[in-house]
Formats: sequence, C-alpha cells, structure tokens
Amino acid sequence: MSEKRHGVSRRQFLNYTLTGVGGFMAAGMLMPMVRFALDPVLKGTEDQDMVQVVSVDELTKEPKRFDFKIDQVDAWYESKESRSAWVYKEGDEIVALSPICKHLGCTVNWNSDPKNPNKFFCPCHYGLYDKDGTNVPGTPPLAPLDHYKQQVKDGYLYLGKAVPKGEG
Ligand code: FES
Repeated sequence: MSEKRHGVSRRQFLNYTLTGVGGFMAAGMLMPMVRFALDPVLKGTEDQDMVQVVSVDELTKEPKRFDFKIDQVDAWYESKESRSAWVYKEGDEIVALSPICKHLGCTVNWNSDPKNPNKFFCPCHYGLYDKDGTNVPGTPPLAPLDHYKQQVKDGYLYLGKAVPKGEG
C-alpha cells in the first residue's frame, strides 16, 4: 500500500512564493499609474470655481441676463464654456437663476410672453416660471429653475455651480 504525499515540494513552494511576491509588487506599481490615469475622470465638478459676473451696483429688482464663461474640465480636456444667469435683487438678497428650462433644456427669457407678464417664459413648449424660479403648475416644467451658488466680494457678484432650488 502506497502512502500519498501531501507535502509541498520545494519547487511548488518557490512558485507560490514568487508568484505572490511578484503579484504584490506589480499591484504596487500599477495602482498609482491607474489612479493617475483615471484621476481627471474621478474628479467631480463640485469644486467649480466662482466666476466674477457683475458689479452688485448694476443689479435691480428687474431680472437681467448676464453672460459669463467658466473653466470647464472634461477629463483631460480643458475649455471655456459660456453660461448665463438671470440676476436680480430682492431686498438685501441677490437671486441668480439658471436660464435652462427644467422641462427639456431650452432657454427661458424674462417677461417675453405678452400673455404672461412678469414670468420666465420658455418658448419651446410654453413653460412658465414665477420670478423666483418656481415652475407654474399646468405648464410642462415639473421643477423650479436651478439657482447659482453665489458670493459677493469687493462689490462684485461671483457665481459658481447651478444647483436645484433648496440645495447649496
Ligand atoms: S423645454 Fe421649456 S417648456 Fe419644454
């Protein structure tokens, strides 16, 4: 009767050990490279810079449209992108609304529909919003206009990312 050998041979032991150590070293070298390559993709747009848009003195109670450019980083590609905001003063507060309609993304205008004065109007499907950006029930948009994150510094209004009402 022969006895089965269950031990590990020297050759097998060396193979296992070298494979394990080699794999560990390879992972140690590859991980930083993968992280470096993916970094721009993983980086969110949360840290979008505030951009100087207008002198606070120019703002009135009537919404006015201001255009500005932001630095857009799309993975490895950097560019300047145009943005617009409808901005007005409400007492001491400044309201800065995105002009992008929440229905299908057309551009809204202030007071441009004679039948609906003092409203933001979207000509694509007749969407309406109140002055504070709230969508008018019974029209296609189902959410209020986004608000820009804002900051006033040295008499100038700076705008950041546009976020849904109630956020930021
Ligand atoms: S895109 Fe504005 S109402 Fe449809």
